Amino acid sequence: MERKYDFGLIGLGVMGRNFILNVADNGFTAFGHDTDPEKVNALKGEGGDLTKVDASTSIKTFVNSLKQPRKIMLLVPAGKIVDTVIENLLPQIDRGDMIIDGGNSFFTDTDRREAHLETRGIFFFGAGVSGGAEGARKGPSIMPGGSKSAYKVVQPIFEAVAAKYQGEPCVAYLGPKSAGNYVKMVHNGIEYGLMQLTSEIYDLLQKGGNYNNDQLHHLFKKWNEGRLQSFLIEISSEIFLQKDDQGEGRLIDKILDKAKQKGTGKWTSQNAMDLGIPIPTIDMAVSMREISALKDERIKADGLYDRPQIESMAQEELEKLTESALYFAFIITYAQGLHQLSEASKDYAYQLNMAVIAKIWRAGCIIRAGLLADIATAFEADPAVPNLLLSPAFIEKVQGTVASARTLVAYAAKNGIPLPGLAASLTYFDAYTASRLPLNLIQAQRDYFGSHTYERLDKEGIFHTEW
Ligand code: 6PG
Repeated sequence: MERKYDFGLIGLGVMGRNFILNVADNGFTAFGHDTDPEKVNALKGEGGDLTKVDASTSIKTFVNSLKQPRKIMLLVPAGKIVDTVIENLLPQIDRGDMIIDGGNSFFTDTDRREAHLETRGIFFFGAGVSGGAEGARKGPSIMPGGSKSAYKVVQPIFEAVAAKYQGEPCVAYLGPKSAGNYVKMVHNGIEYGLMQLTSEIYDLLQKGGNYNNDQLHHLFKKWNEGRLQSFLIEISSEIFLQKDDQGEGRLIDKILDKAKQKGTGKWTSQNAMDLGIPIPTIDMAVSMREISALKDERIKADGLYDRPQIESMAQEELEKLTESALYFAFIITYAQGLHQLSEASKDYAYQLNMAVIAKIWRAGCIIRAGLLADIATAFEADPAVPNLLLSPAFIEKVQGTVASARTLVAYAAKNGIPLPGLAASLTYFDAYTASRLPLNLIQAQRDYFGSHTYERLDKEGIFHTEW
């Protein structure tokens, strides 16, 4: 009898190859497919034992090599290619089979594909996978959404390959339809926010405290042993040490300051606007990538305006302030992303469990951080709390750190150092925690010029005035 494999994977780029080898390491047999023979051969070579991992350039051989119901994961670039792969698969597979899209697909595409495949009796899963190439190989965080009953089929494989946090797998069924892709999209929005904040604190330490790369390395390493412990702080500390293999000095100083983006951060912001949920730290992170891309204009503008002479700050003081302000802004960034998720859960009927999401982000993914264990505990205590800022467990953490954000934002403004993510986080905090905002004037203006009406503080009803 022909050998049949437990799991199929299409797209044998670095992520796909690593993921399939991870599946094989965990006691499941896996079969890969890619139209590129080099990639197929690379996997066969790396996998070694063909009874555990094999691959083919033929889609027919691939499909026929899988146990039924087939579990087929796609790790291909988001967009049109996902539809093409699905269309190629459809004539070959059977009712009851499952297709899992592990890429960063836009969530409405996932809904469309799920509805289309349901008519053919095929289960479709959008499953965000985070952790980059290393995560895929050694244990990513996986965010699956789709049919709950169908998930059981793939659950043992996902739980085996996922990263573990104190023994608990960083994967869980998140909800119906595109819940998995949606959660991954917001994960990436948070990722953008944390990266922006880290980069501006790096800038501030250099400009305000004259930190060199060795000092930055030591400081970030120390931070990674404290409450800022996180993947992004950890890798930053290593980045500062990396020598330039094409010249003198450190690589970080040679990298062009234009950040690229594939769209997930922007989608997070766009959708937050649709939902009416403010996420200004994440919005600012997207805007800063856009500003960074305008390098030529920035160079011209730099020559046109004077900047204040920077008054440096004692390193000891700066260190305390930046650590504390970064902790504050990290909390605000998670709070904004999670707020968006709780609103999306209602609007799109995802039935998300916020504690579960925080838990599967504790290891494997790019935004993993010590803070997520506290966030999970806060949502376990009060699953319905819409915003972390309303959670009793976070009051002290925020109250104890906001003052350093104020000091740094004021210092940066005075010295002409951009601190947009931190400033956006602070302003968000000040506005979200204000029982009275001046938007009464906006209402008056709207009514003045357009008869848009207003409500009153002292009476029920809708009012209009002939101003
Ligand atoms: C992850 C990442 C990953 C993302 C990259 C690049 O969780 O592993 O989020 O999915 O594609 O971080 O994203 P940008 O190119 O948009 O920065």
